[in-house]
Amino acid sequence: MPSESLLVIQGGQPLHGEFVIQPSKNAALPILAATLLTRHSVTVHGVPQLSDVYTLLRILGTIGARHAWIGPHSLVIHTPEILTVQPPAELVGQLRASFTLLGALLSRAGEARLGQPGGCTFSQRPIDQHLKALRAMGARVSENNGAFHVVRPAPLSGNYLFELLTVGGTQNAILAAVLGEGQVVLENCSTDTDVVDMVNFLNALGADIHGAGTATITVSGVKELRGGEYHVIPDRLEAGTLMLAAAATRGQVTLTNVRTAHLRAVSAKLREVGVTITEHPDGTALSVDARQHRLQAVNVTATEYPGFPTDLQPIIGALLSTVRGTSILMDRIYTRTTHVAELRRMGAQIELADHVMVVTGASLRGTRVKAADIRSGAALVVAALAAQGESVIENVHFLQRGYEDLAARLTPLGAQVQHHEATLPLAMD
Ligand code: EPU
Repeated sequence: MPSESLLVIQGGQPLHGEFVIQPSKNAALPILAATLLTRHSVTVHGVPQLSDVYTLLRILGTIGARHAWIGPHSLVIHTPEILTVQPPAELVGQLRASFTLLGALLSRAGEARLGQPGGCTFSQRPIDQHLKALRAMGARVSENNGAFHVVRPAPLSGNYLFELLTVGGTQNAILAAVLGEGQVVLENCSTDTDVVDMVNFLNALGADIHGAGTATITVSGVKELRGGEYHVIPDRLEAGTLMLAAAATRGQVTLTNVRTAHLRAVSAKLREVGVTITEHPDGTALSVDARQHRLQAVNVTATEYPGFPTDLQPIIGALLSTVRGTSILMDRIYTRTTHVAELRRMGAQIELADHVMVVTGASLRGTRVKAADIRSGAALVVAALAAQGESVIENVHFLQRGYEDLAARLTPLGAQVQHHEATLPLAMD
C-alpha cells in the first residue's frame, strides 16, 4: 500500500528557544551543479539534507560525479570525467535547479542535452531567458519534444541584457562562460545571494568572474578550474520562515547560523508588524520577540532580492491571518496562491482578486490541510502552530524538499509536532 507522510500539530504554543538554521538549499543546489566544472575533487560544507539535494546528487552521479558525505552537512564530490551529457529526463524533471546543468555541462563538455526542469508548480516558470542568454553568447540551442540540446561551436563570448531579473538564468549564463577563452558581459543580472554564493564558489576554484551582487557581471573564461573547499551560506528562506513562525505564535526565538544582512527585508517588515528583532553585532544570529506585543496589519510586496522574498509571501500571509486589521499582499515574481484555500479552511479570511491577497485577521483553528509545494507547506505549518487545536498537514514530502526534519527541529522550541507515516487506501483506477 502506498504511504504518505503527515505532520500532526497541536497549535497554540508560543515558540520559545534557540534554532540553528540549515545551510541554504537554493545556494547549495547550483554549487553542486557547478562542481562539474572541475575534474578535481571539491569539498563542500553546508549541504542541507533534503530530497532535492539527493535527487541532484543522483543526477550528478549519472554524469560521472562520485560523492561521499564526510559530515552531517559536508561532502566530497569528484567528477574526473563526464560520462554523459544527457542525464535521465525523469530525474531532471524532478527539480528546477537541475536546469543549471545546461550551463555547467556546456562549460565542461561543450554540449548538453536536458529535458524540461521540474520543481514546484505553483506558477508558470518559463526558461526563455536562460536560452536567450546562451544564444547571445554564441551557443546553438535547439528544442525537440520539450528536450533541449545546446552546443558550443566556439568559446562563448558576447553580451546579454536580461529582460527581467532571474536567479537561475543568471546562474546558467555564468556557468556556461566559466571555461573557455571568451569574455561574456551579462547585464540586468539578479543580485540574489544564491548568485553571489555560486560565483564565490567558482572564483575559489580559479574562475574569473567580476560583479556578482551587482547588475553587471563579467565572466572571463579560464582554461580549467582547480579543486577546493567551500562553505555554503545559511538558508535565508528557512530563517525567514522561523522568524514568521515565532511572530505568528507570539513567541521568542533566537536563530543562529544566519546572515542578518540577507534578512533585512524580512526584519524590516516584521518590525513594521510590531515584532522586536535584535541582531547580534557579528551578523550571524538574531532574536525575534513577539511576546506581549500588539501586532498590526501591514502591506507586503514580494519582489527580487534584496526585497521581500516571494518564497516567504505565503508564509507572511499565514502570520497576517492572525493579526488584527487588513493587510494587502502582492507578489511581483510569482502567482503563489496554492495555500489560500487551505488557510481559509483553517479560518483565515483571505480574499483573492487579480493575484492580490487581502488578508483580514481572524482566529485560526486546526483542521486537515494539504501542502501543494514547499512554501505553501511552510505557510500551513506556521498557521497550524498558531491555530487553536489539532492540524493534520498532508503531502509533507513537499516540505522535505526545502526544510530539514521540521518536526524534530521544532519540538525543542515547545512546538507539539509529530511526523507520521499514514497508509493510504489504494487508488481504484
Ligand atoms: N522568468 C522568466 N523567464 C526565465 C526565467 C525566469 O520569465 O527564463 C521569470 C519567472 O517566471 C519569475 C521571475 O522571472 O517570474 C524570477 O524567476 P527566477 O528565474 O529568479 O526563479 P528560479 O531561479 O527558477 C529560484 C528559486 C525559487 C525562488 C525564485 C525567486 C531555486 C531552485 N529556486 O527560482 O525557489 O522562488 O528563485 O527567488 O533556486 C523554492 O525554494 O521553493 C523556490 C521555488
